[in-house]
Amino acid sequence: MSAAPAPADLLSQIRVNGEVPRHVAIIMDGNGRWARERMLPRPLGHRSGMKSVREVVEGAIEVGLEVLSLFAFSQENWQRPELEVAALMSLLEEYIQREADELDAQGVQVRMLGELDRLTPAARAAVDRVMKQTEHNTKLRLNLFISYGARAEIVRATKALAAEVAAGTRSVDAIDDAAFSEKLFTAGCPDPDLLIRTSGEQRISNFLLWQLAYTELYISSVLWPDFSRRELYGAILDYQDRDRRFGRVSA
Ligand code: FPP
Repeated sequence: MSAAPAPADLLSQIRVNGEVPRHVAIIMDGNGRWARERMLPRPLGHRSGMKSVREVVEGAIEVGLEVLSLFAFSQENWQRPELEVAALMSLLEEYIQREADELDAQGVQVRMLGELDRLTPAARAAVDRVMKQTEHNTKLRLNLFISYGARAEIVRATKALAAEVAAGTRSVDAIDDAAFSEKLFTAGCPDPDLLIRTSGEQRISNFLLWQLAYTELYISSVLWPDFSRRELYGAILDYQDRDRRFGRVSA
């Protein structure tokens, strides 16, 4: 059996192939199963998932992505057991505390997207701090989706447009795709070119429903804590082989 290719070889191949996605989004899934396989409590799976976050951020910089979006905590996740929610909140704080300076030094602009008012005050303060610290950076935009649900995001955007119409500052005819996109948390970001979901699940799970209209999907069977830049590069190589038609026919 031949050995798996080294990440550096995959990266060289990505560069030889040429065009890389501008924006990769990831549904990080499988932390709980990773922990269960080792007879560990679920929060330890999430903790182990933090190092995969570091891996893919570094991989994204190496590849030259413009935007990396990570689904860290959904609105539905608030319904998990209290202890698990508390563990995820404190991991978020710990992540920011440990990584903010490094992310800043790497030129990463960190944006946290979602209903942030629901965060604990300590987590909210940490989130505001890292966004402020890194707002001037341009190397990579890292979108971390926290307390996020795509349907709620769409309702929020609809209300914002409806309020402008009611106030007389926008006509109904001035509502189009672009106007709608500008009311979403992702305003100003290109739509994802590639969506990766780990752990073999084949669902969108209320993530970026508007923005994923023409995104290429890649399902990896690897559980999130085992996901490294090697898997990220593998997904990008797979993407580079796709024929994106956006509903049209090939050239
Ligand atoms: C899904 O696995 C993962 C989550 C709900 C949390 C994601 C969090 C991290 C990767 C770590 C923290 C990262 C940051 C940036 C603070 P699951 O629990 O649904 O797994 P399962 O489907 O196997 O149960």
